[in-house]
Amino acid sequence: MVATPLKPEKNQTEKRLTIQTEQINEDTTTIRSLDWDRDRFDIEFGLQNGTTYNSYIIRGEKIALVDTSHAKFRQLYLDALTGEIDPTTIDYIIVSHTEPDHSGLIADVLKLAPQAVIVGAKVAIKFLKDLVHDPFEFIQVKSGDRLDLGKGHDLEFVSAPNLHWPDTIFTYDPKTLTLFTCDAFGLHYCSAATYDDDLKAITPDYRFYYECLMAPNARSVLSAMKRIDKLDSEITLVANGHGPLLKHNTKELMEWYREWSEAQTKGDKTAAVFYVSDYGYSDRISQAIAKGITKAGVAVEMVDLKVADPQDVHEIVGRAAGLVIGMPPLDSAYNDELSKAVGTILAASKDKQVFGMFESYGGNDEPIDPLLMKFRDTGLTTAFDSIRVKTEPDEALYQLCEESGTDLGQLLTQKEKLKARKSLDSDLDKAMGRISGGLYILTAQKGDVKGAMVASWVTQASFEPPGFTVAVAKDRAIESLMQVGDRFVLNILEEGKYQGLMKHFLKRFPPGADRFEGVNVQMAKNGSPILGEALAYLECEVMSRMEASDHWIVYSKVETGRVSNQEGLTAVHHRKVGNYY
Ligand code: FEO
Repeated sequence: MVATPLKPEKNQTEKRLTIQTEQINEDTTTIRSLDWDRDRFDIEFGLQNGTTYNSYIIRGEKIALVDTSHAKFRQLYLDALTGEIDPTTIDYIIVSHTEPDHSGLIADVLKLAPQAVIVGAKVAIKFLKDLVHDPFEFIQVKSGDRLDLGKGHDLEFVSAPNLHWPDTIFTYDPKTLTLFTCDAFGLHYCSAATYDDDLKAITPDYRFYYECLMAPNARSVLSAMKRIDKLDSEITLVANGHGPLLKHNTKELMEWYREWSEAQTKGDKTAAVFYVSDYGYSDRISQAIAKGITKAGVAVEMVDLKVADPQDVHEIVGRAAGLVIGMPPLDSAYNDELSKAVGTILAASKDKQVFGMFESYGGNDEPIDPLLMKFRDTGLTTAFDSIRVKTEPDEALYQLCEESGTDLGQLLTQKEKLKARKSLDSDLDKAMGRISGGLYILTAQKGDVKGAMVASWVTQASFEPPGFTVAVAKDRAIESLMQVGDRFVLNILEEGKYQGLMKHFLKRFPPGADRFEGVNVQMAKNGSPILGEALAYLECEVMSRMEASDHWIVYSKVETGRVSNQEGLTAVHHRKVGNYY
């Protein structure tokens, strides 16, 4: 094993990129590109633990390379690859999907290995033809197709579209019982550990990654799991594209995908997010909106209009309660196909549906406005103001997208929630209502993104370290800022003096709105706002989260705190029933 044994010091100024190679199975070697400082501008990098890009060499009588690496690792990766193998002996390059973090070096590898045949899904081959300018040999594969490398490595392919890219395939090696999955079953977690030795340490990142990238594609996850179930033998190793490989908890971690996806799709309402993949910001924007929708408990179907079949688009619109359409600029190369696809969506849409739109890099021509009018004329309800992206998206824009998605999801579920509220006014609910709590406001800030939420389900949970739990509804915007390792402030409100703050923070804020405008705040040491009118505040760090149906129970340790009025008492929240706040 050639490895970086220790995590480099965090205060190094240069970006820390290292390479690790290790034999993981008979005839199989991984080359892992360790990206210790991956920026968190992509929505799924919220936990700030860096990431890895995992590539594999399978040596049968023939040799296959599974995926490459991010272009930022060009020299490091090519040196590691040529240190392991003579590139002129590579027979196949299997492309699990074409996002640049795995395919960014394919053109470079092909220069060293011009004889290699590219193996991938039809859509992947199409994209690579645009990416790699020189001609190359290729084999298109789909579920059930095989590629025999010899020595027992009779590889079988599994189509896994939308996990999380339309062109995703998995590769199964029956000799080593290994499933190569690229993004699926991965996590953004960079450490020198090749495998999932420390389940507790990786669980929050594994879950967060699922929520950002896979939950919006939960139906596709379940379809892929069914295809995996049909493979002849057991899977003992998941050779993923990001983070530690799943070796010690393989079955458990795979089953979590099934459980989470079943929970995600159990509601009867779905929303369809139509977008045009550009292998960049349009995808991220649509993912952020989709993540927001899933937070409200509504299942999402992601549809890339570049590759979608018109009949499928028609059916998806027919069964969706909500529609989101992302438009590329007018000069997009896909304008003709796109206008046909949008025509299909419009023709299949119904007046009871809700919808929202976003536009990436529009100029002054505003191509979405006429379309917006057409959907309104059909009788659809607008769920959020159209999102117009003019410059490179930042964290605040992704937050706006997520909150817009949640607004759409809540619009779809609000009727059921009101109905449930009325029908449950029973003795049980009256008794539950006698559980009382205090009144608090959680405040958090990460970069340019700020959030606040009124809370009353707060209780001390430990002495050493001083800690408490707070229940946060899954569809709350601030939930995204309260992942493990995040810091926030708990503001404790004072009896008789809380009405002003409550009135302000109980307002319904439009997506992306500054919750603190007009409020007296100062910044805590941990970077989150402290409310000037609060009786006391605690600066906290999230230690763990427990899923409790429609809420997250967030356990946090307290780092510091202060009381502003020694005589003041905490405001108490009395309720009549327990089936809403
Ligand atoms: Fe890790 Fe979808 O690329």
